[in-house]
Amino acid sequence: MKIIKSQIELDKLREESPSLSFVPTMGALHEGHLSLVHEALKQSDTALVSIFVNPTQFAPGEDLDSYPRTLDEDIRKLEEVGVQALWLPSVEDIYSNGVDADIHIAGVSEPLEGEYRPHFFDGVATVVARLFDSVKPDKALFGEKDFQQLQVIKKMAQELNMSIDIIGVPTVRDKNGLALSSRNLYLSETEYSIAIQLNKVLRELAHGDIDEDAACEKLLKIGFDKIDYCTVRNAETFTKEGDLTRVLAAVWLGRTRLIDNMPINV
Ligand code: PAJ
Repeated sequence: MKIIKSQIELDKLREESPSLSFVPTMGALHEGHLSLVHEALKQSDTALVSIFVNPTQFAPGEDLDSYPRTLDEDIRKLEEVGVQALWLPSVEDIYSNGVDADIHIAGVSEPLEGEYRPHFFDGVATVVARLFDSVKPDKALFGEKDFQQLQVIKKMAQELNMSIDIIGVPTVRDKNGLALSSRNLYLSETEYSIAIQLNKVLRELAHGDIDEDAACEKLLKIGFDKIDYCTVRNAETFTKEGDLTRVLAAVWLGRTRLIDNMPINV
């Protein structure tokens, strides 16, 4: 696996690759990330992964400094699945004119996550646009785990006329149904036993066995400390208008924030 640290090397990889699929990540890789990588390897001759903990998507006081960094392990996992190249940009490579987010995707980025983490999608859209600009991929893969993020990036690619195919990959869960996340590393044993109830409550809401209010009540009773949202929304706009086909939730356990989502009627 090539480890790339400059634009010149990236350009060379692009030149040598008839088709290229790109998987942007922030590292601390787990099976969820690796399922995107497997799909990238199926879709194109070359799969390129990036690891970059993007400062503009963290608000002051969030976990930028403590975000898990496990580079040696990440490299080992990527080599094992046969990825051709890993790009490790520096903050200066991405933000040469200062660490600022300058892309806002109106509408889709405003409800739910946009309401509770107002800086977040501008940071994500900005970094992804810059990564795309450097890599020039044919396809890029994103997890449904971050379903609103996936839709924000689809809309950005459409609005900015990026000729990149944005592909969504289903959420990978552990044996108890907990959606894999780098932040699960923060959970204590007791918190983990509460966390695994989230997908079960969302499934009940998705089946129509309980309504939103009952789902929120249930989550609090199970032991979640706070609920940012637990709701059924339009899967493209995240409003309450049109077909409401996606259940989405963001909940807190101590200092850890978990998100999950699923289609209704699963
Ligand atoms: P990160 O959290 O590292 O996730 C990288 C990619 O892996 C995202 O597309 C995410 O949706 C996907 N992913 C994470 N957990 C998953 C799971 N359990 N199943 C399937 N896919 C999963 O998301 C980001 O980084 C950043 O916001 C980024 C897009 C890299 C921009 O900085």
